[in-house]
Parts: sequence; structure tokens; C-alpha cells
Amino acid sequence: MALDIQSTLSQIWKKISVEELSSIAAKTLDPGNPTDAGKMWRLPTSHPDPIVLASGIPDDDTIPTNKLIEGLVNGIKKFPVESLTYGGWFGYDECRKAIANRQNRIENIDLNENNIILHNGSSGCLENILNAFIEPNDVVIVESPSYSGTVRCIQGSLAEVVEIPIHSNGINVKEFETLIEKITNEQKRIKFFYTIPDYQNPTGNVAPIEIRESILKICAKNKILIIEDAAYSELYFDQPPPPTYFSLSNGFGVLRMCSFSKVVATGLRLGWIQARDEYIQILTKVRFDMGNSPLIHYALTNFINDNSLDSHVENMRNLYKEKCSIMVNSIRENCGDYIEITPPSGGYFLWLKSYQVKSEQLIKAAAEEGLVFPTGSVFFLDKSQGTYNYRLAFTQPSKKQLQEVGVRLKKAYEKCLD
Ligand SMILES: Cc1ncc(COP(=O)(O)O)c(C=O)c1O
Repeated sequence: MALDIQSTLSQIWKKISVEELSSIAAKTLDPGNPTDAGKMWRLPTSHPDPIVLASGIPDDDTIPTNKLIEGLVNGIKKFPVESLTYGGWFGYDECRKAIANRQNRIENIDLNENNIILHNGSSGCLENILNAFIEPNDVVIVESPSYSGTVRCIQGSLAEVVEIPIHSNGINVKEFETLIEKITNEQKRIKFFYTIPDYQNPTGNVAPIEIRESILKICAKNKILIIEDAAYSELYFDQPPPPTYFSLSNGFGVLRMCSFSKVVATGLRLGWIQARDEYIQILTKVRFDMGNSPLIHYALTNFINDNSLDSHVENMRNLYKEKCSIMVNSIRENCGDYIEITPPSGGYFLWLKSYQVKSEQLIKAAAEEGLVFPTGSVFFLDKSQGTYNYRLAFTQPSKKQLQEVGVRLKKAYEKCLD
């Protein structure tokens, strides 16, 4: 009987195009790359010891495994029911309180737990924000280049994505105003400006305070909300970045997304939106996933409250500063003639530009030398841009591997210029 049903169903369904039934987003978006999905990206290489500079993932050895085990075990032991029951739209109160208190100290602001919604990383935050505010054909302005994963998510919301270039000294405010005027004249509604102001992915750029202030004013004047993606904000090497968009505006017109992914571990899948009450009410209305894992909230609460997170982040800053400098020195020594180098002052990435060699050609030659990284064009909507750029993530490889980067890169350049 079951076989009869299955054969009838398969005859019917094989004639139907599932593609035709799919949403506009599924029809129009390409499959994306593994980096967009948070997976390790690598070009095939037969090198016995490849160095992968592709992914925005913390150093494996730094993950505070024992502290996390302790937190998970205590979470279940102390709260056997609550930690394993749906956590609701907001997440565990004590975890939100701990985050609010910590942000108040870091950003000099005045939040309480009701200004925090816990999510499945900042990706979950972004989906919630888009669900709550985007109507089809709304425009979202993004930096160019920008992180391809979040830009894809915005495209998936059916918003039209428009790019504003980041220059070496950041966004040009005049250019930003002109772009807004042009879009508005086309009778389109700009809903968001999505920005990664600190140690931007992929450029490492930090938006200066004057630009932040101007952008806040321009956006308010034009009823444009700012999505402030703070994925890398805590990871400065020496000086903290300028005050956040959220703190400068006291949250008016700003939704800030933060995450434990880059400061602790990507697999925790924990991040939060911080926003004023009036935004929070709208955001929770369109949250349908019943919250993310309360067990993770319980496990992290003590990690935040006993200051382990602070000392952990401090160690990350020192480690990534050192790793970045090892890689930059190695590249300077070996490849100074081939590339323009502007080292970042924090974050995960070094953004480079070759004088002569196209990145498409370079990444193939580099893969043969066992060096794996993405081309710059991955981070632009218009793939004809960034063709001489590429991005190197320095957090995950070992220091020994990072010392080797310049040597291998030089061989790759020599092959290309041969
Ligand atoms: C700028 C930026 N935003 C968001 C994300 C996604 O992070 P999460 O793991 O918090 O979802 C990434 C990941 O690489 C990122 O670089």
C-alpha cells in the first residue's frame, strides 16, 4: 500500500518544478559560498600543509573549553528544567542582564535587560531586524565592499541593495548624501544603512567619529535606520574604536547587533540585538523561532559575570595583534614590491591590493603554494570590482604558519609575473 502511494506521488511530483514553487529569494539568489554559510572555505590544493587564511574564525586553541564545559554542566545542574525548555523571544533574563551591564560599562550607555534580545549569532539578529522592518522594494544601503554573508541575507529579504564605497578614510559623507538624494528622487524608500563601523569585514576600516556623527544626522533627516554590526568592535589592538553609533545616538535610529562568535566561538551561535524599547517591541512581534538555546545562555551568564569574558577578550586582542603583525611583517619582507599594505588596527582581516596581478590569477597560484584565501570581488555586489584585492584572515592559522605566508605569497606572485 505504502509503495503504491509512493509511486503515485513520485509520478506526480516528478512532473512538477519545485523551482517554480520556490520563493523569489530562492529563485534569484545564487547558492552562495561556504564562507557565507559560516563553513571553512578553501580552494582545492594538493599542498601537504595548506595555510587557510579564508575564514573569520577565532584561533582554535583559545576557545575557553573548560569554562564552557563548566558553564554548560552548571547550567543543566542548577536549572535542569529552565535551561532545557524554550527560552522565549528574549532569552534568559540573567544573561540579558549580564550583557546589558557589560555594554553599559563598555559603551557608557544605560541599558537594561529589556533592551537586549538574544539570537542565533548576529546572523539571527539581522534576519529578525529585516523581518521586522523591510517591505518589498525597500532599499538598504551597504558599504562597498562588505561581508557577503550579511549582504546576501539582506538580498534574501527582497530589499534592493545599493552600495556606498568605503575609501581609505572611510565613507565620503557628501557621496552618501548624494546617493540618498538620487535613490529618493527615484521614489524609492531607503529603510536601512547597514554598516560594520569597527574593523570592517573585509577592509579593516574604522569609521572616524566625525563620519559617524554626520551619518547619524543624515540618516535621521531621511528616516533611515542604521544597522550597526559590531561583530569585531571589541577586538582592537591598542586603542578602542570611536564611540559606537548606538552610544552617540542614545539608540535613536540605531539597531546594534553584537555576537559572541568572534570573541569566543562561532559555534555557540549566540548574539544579541540591543535597541531602545520602541524597536524591541516591533522586533519581538516578528520573531517566530521560539528563541535560541537557553542552555547556552545559562552557560555564558557566569562567564560574563565573573569577568572571564573580559580577560578572554583582552587575551584575544593581544594574540590577534601579534598574529597580524607576524603576517604583515612576513608579507612586507617578501612581497613589498607587489602589494599596497595598510595593516588594520584590530579585527580579523588584512585587505590587500596587488599593483599588477589580478586576484583571480593570484589565488590559483597561491593555492598551488598551499595558501588559501578569497578574492576581493567576493565582497562586492558588482563582481567586476575588487579584482586586484584579496582578504587574508589571520586569526586561525598558527604563528609559525603566519611567518610563512609572505614566502609562499612571493612564490605565487613570481609565478603570475613569470
Ligand atoms: C561583519 C560580520 N557580521 C556578521 C557575521 C556573522 O556572525 P555570527 O556568527 O554572529 O552570525 C560575520 C561573520 O563572519 C561578520 O563578519
